[in-house]
Amino acid sequence: MAKSDSFCNRAEAYEAHDDVPLSPARGDAIGDVILSRYSRRDIMRGTLGVVAAVSLFGPQALAAGEAKAVGIGGRFNFEEIEAGVDGSHHVAPGYRAQVLLRWGDPVFPDSPPFDPLKQSPEAQLRQFGYNNDYIAFFPLDAEGRRALLCVNHEYTNEEVMFPDLPRQDLICFPDMTAELVDIEMAAHGVTIVEIVNAPDGDWRVVRDSPYNRRISPSNTAITVDGPAVGHDRLKTHADPTGTRILGTLNNCAGGQTPWGTYLTAEENFHGYFWSDACAGPRETPKGLGGAQAASYARYGVPGLWQAWGKFVDRFNVDKAPNEPNRFGWIVEIDPLDPHSVPVKHTALGRFRHEGAECLINTDGRVVIYSGDDGRFEYVYRFVSDGRYDPNDRAANMKLLSSGTLSVAKFHEDGRLEWLPLVFGQGPLTAANGFTSQGDVVIDARIAADLAGATRMDRPEDVQPNPTNGRVYVMLTNNKERPEGAEDAANPLAVNVFGHIIEMTPPDGDHAASEYRWEMLVRCGDPQVSEVGALWSPETSANGWFACPDNAAVDSQGRLWISTDQGENWPTGRADGLYALETEGERRCTARLFFRAPIGAELCGPCFTPDGATLFVAVQHPGTDGTDKYKGFERASSFADPATRWPDFDPAIPPRPSVLVITKNGGGRIA
Ligand code: FEO
Ligand code: CA
Ligand code: CA
Repeated sequence: MAKSDSFCNRAEAYEAHDDVPLSPARGDAIGDVILSRYSRRDIMRGTLGVVAAVSLFGPQALAAGEAKAVGIGGRFNFEEIEAGVDGSHHVAPGYRAQVLLRWGDPVFPDSPPFDPLKQSPEAQLRQFGYNNDYIAFFPLDAEGRRALLCVNHEYTNEEVMFPDLPRQDLICFPDMTAELVDIEMAAHGVTIVEIVNAPDGDWRVVRDSPYNRRISPSNTAITVDGPAVGHDRLKTHADPTGTRILGTLNNCAGGQTPWGTYLTAEENFHGYFWSDACAGPRETPKGLGGAQAASYARYGVPGLWQAWGKFVDRFNVDKAPNEPNRFGWIVEIDPLDPHSVPVKHTALGRFRHEGAECLINTDGRVVIYSGDDGRFEYVYRFVSDGRYDPNDRAANMKLLSSGTLSVAKFHEDGRLEWLPLVFGQGPLTAANGFTSQGDVVIDARIAADLAGATRMDRPEDVQPNPTNGRVYVMLTNNKERPEGAEDAANPLAVNVFGHIIEMTPPDGDHAASEYRWEMLVRCGDPQVSEVGALWSPETSANGWFACPDNAAVDSQGRLWISTDQGENWPTGRADGLYALETEGERRCTARLFFRAPIGAELCGPCFTPDGATLFVAVQHPGTDGTDKYKGFERASSFADPATRWPDFDPAIPPRPSVLVITKNGGGRIA
């Protein structure tokens, strides 16, 4: 393979998050057959009027639904919209979806207005960032009419962000400059803004709020705590103590603690690291050996998805070999103090954290679930040592500093075993290169390998439902699981459409060492037998979905799923937000509530506590008009994007945006 081919793999990597040399032999041929046949049938049939085939619906789901009907959740009450794809968004009849925040919108009173032809790092640091992802809502008053909105900015798409700049990762970044990289860095991170629910019912940003803040990889000092603080492998020239890190990046999903802090998950951090010596992303930089070399190999460092390391030394592993060890963590931010210093909590382990959903266990300990979004990666759980005290916020903010990190092993008989990743226990000893818990958390993936965790189909959001005590694992897809490598929890070779697993702790104890688990749904079109989808028979031709990514539980304890089908766009329909029944006779019924514009994935579903407002994040609109399986190609650019959503102004490129959805006339959603 030519250097340029192996070097520049972000196109594939962003779609599949697959650049770790771990995967078994590929089975692409089977996947292509399924996809091509699937696409043809989908086109011929259209999208309306087909009821799911009962024969494809697993009897276990109905039986489980009857057994678990506990009179909660209730049926969703909205008119489903039609699946499809076009340049705009669509929401169920009777609801309105309004733009609240767009990339480039002013965040402060002195922010310059958005001008895509005059971007600068300074302007971007005063404006809403790019590719909004996770959203959290923190009420500032008892009625929830004033609140702080925290929003992640995961990554950037230079081809629709900057004028006259072709997609750089495909051609080895020839046109990137130091200033463009600085703008990209400023567009990453987190935005915190105050919002207010005006008397007319609309939500508005309070630009002059003292809470407003931009956090980025380039402007925010972050401290470290937990087992890896001060570890030699966290020390750099800039930080010889290994205790203070500049910035956070690739902030994907996250979490919200009961003590009012925001958790942001550093996901594909490996992609931001560079090496001049590399012929390809899987080659270990010369001069590295021992634990660092093995770690680089296991984590896919340097990933070379971005050009940052060409211009910023700390992202070049030849110059700062320990810098990658300082990313891939969960970061806690106090939105109520705009001057607070965020903390990277190393006790929660280092991997490509999708999110960090949080709950208080029955015994008062804090539990955080997190998926490692890579093919064949794992599902993790953190249980704090200390207990939550509703009257001691300062003490609560130390709860993520120490605890037990575990990884999931899904047994064939429905048992789920949590394997503790504790130094000195089992294989996590000096014989395997571990000399401290710091070593374990820095190389959590390697520790989990040794512990014997179950290799999953790309774990994304892991969403606890406090109403029914269960936990839902989004497995988005894995097109590289070969035949013969299936297991009960990942039952499909070439899993194009993903699935969702339901985990049930005993007696609601989220610190228990064993749970039960079962398949909730297997995604994709139930009319195409090769797909092997499992839904309730009531799921309509519009309601089934593919590639679950984020999840949220609303005020009624009901589950909502947003999707990210990626660049292969396997269904010919836009990503969206789906209501998914988990209780009663309609368990496993999905319905389409909101549809994103072409090219976008949908992130961050976030309900207000009263259930009357829903925030969603439309990420990378207009970036992808390509479907190689339908022979349809429409490469987007700044000058000619697939859509100019949401402004539809010929001078403005598409803009990732947060929408606020409310019911006409007010009231609880759905
Ligand atoms: Fe950033 Fe796994 O989605
Ligand atoms: Ca995601
Ligand atoms: Ca979630």
